[in-house]
Amino acid sequence: MELGLEGKVAIVTASSKGLGKACALGLSREGAKVVICARNEVELEKAKDEIKNNSNNDVLAVKADVTNPNDIKNLVEETIKNFGTVHILVTNAGGPPAGYFENFTDDDWENAFKLNFMSTVRLIREVLPFMKNQKWGRIINITSVTVKQPIDELILSNSIRMSVVGLAKTLALQLAKYNILINNVAPGYTLTDRVKFVIEQNAKSTGRSFEEVKNELAKDIPLGRLADPEELANLVVFLASEKASYITGATIPVDGGWIKGTY
Ligand SMILES: NC(=O)c1ccc[n+]([C@@H]2O[C@H](COP(=O)([O-])OP(=O)(O)OC[C@H]3O[C@@H](n4cnc5c(N)ncnc54)[C@H](OP(=O)(O)O)[C@@H]3O)[C@@H](O)[C@H]2O)c1
Repeated sequence: MELGLEGKVAIVTASSKGLGKACALGLSREGAKVVICARNEVELEKAKDEIKNNSNNDVLAVKADVTNPNDIKNLVEETIKNFGTVHILVTNAGGPPAGYFENFTDDDWENAFKLNFMSTVRLIREVLPFMKNQKWGRIINITSVTVKQPIDELILSNSIRMSVVGLAKTLALQLAKYNILINNVAPGYTLTDRVKFVIEQNAKSTGRSFEEVKNELAKDIPLGRLADPEELANLVVFLASEKASYITGATIPVDGGWIKGTY
């Protein structure tokens, strides 16, 4: 399938590792000029080299913390300076800490709001003028299966990510006339560095092996395994493409069948 991504300019945030990096690599392989960001510059440069070596396409790396409004402005300014416009925005950030209602203070709630909601608002605000002007845009927010089925100990993720769904649905209706499509993807358990770390910690604290803990997580997944980051990226690349021209306002899981609901 010809995806029509050759020469398109894509910003993928929080992309030196994990899901973000897999999305950036997927878009770059399809011919997009990709802009990546993260806070740790060493890891960011490593990711840039890895993506470039695997795609032979232009990659721009800009150090940025998505909780910092000035960093977001600078990220978009650098994109425009180097590539002239932006066609695709993939919003991603770190995850809020795990815990229950009793564990969190106002500061924790506000930090999660800044990390997972305000970063999305600010990124969209900065790219919209370019997308409106060219009457073409794709915005894809990386959320979580928690927006379809809450996970007990992830109250911050369950709550704050729902606001991204509300934002995207509202904007999908308002931006359709500019041919700007906005969708959310909802990853399930995916073997990124973050998830490997969580499995390792759990294995250490319970005296089990990495494989035992991983298999326990996979028990509730009908496909019987955790996802590879590339499997989420494949959907993001499709949603960013010309071929996804009639999909907007959707929230699509990539969860191996983990969500039990039918909506
Ligand atoms: N993996 C899963 O199973 C899964 C499932 C559902 C949802 N999610 C969500 O998907 C997102 C990505 O998860 P992941 O598993 O890919 O994590 P990961 O492997 O830890 O990668 C996170 C990436 O985000 C960057 N980052 C974190 N905070 C940032 C910030 N404030 N500003 C800019 N960059 C930032 C990190 O680089 P620096 O630390 O250098 O900034 C790194 O490049 C998270 O929100 C997570 O909760 C993951």
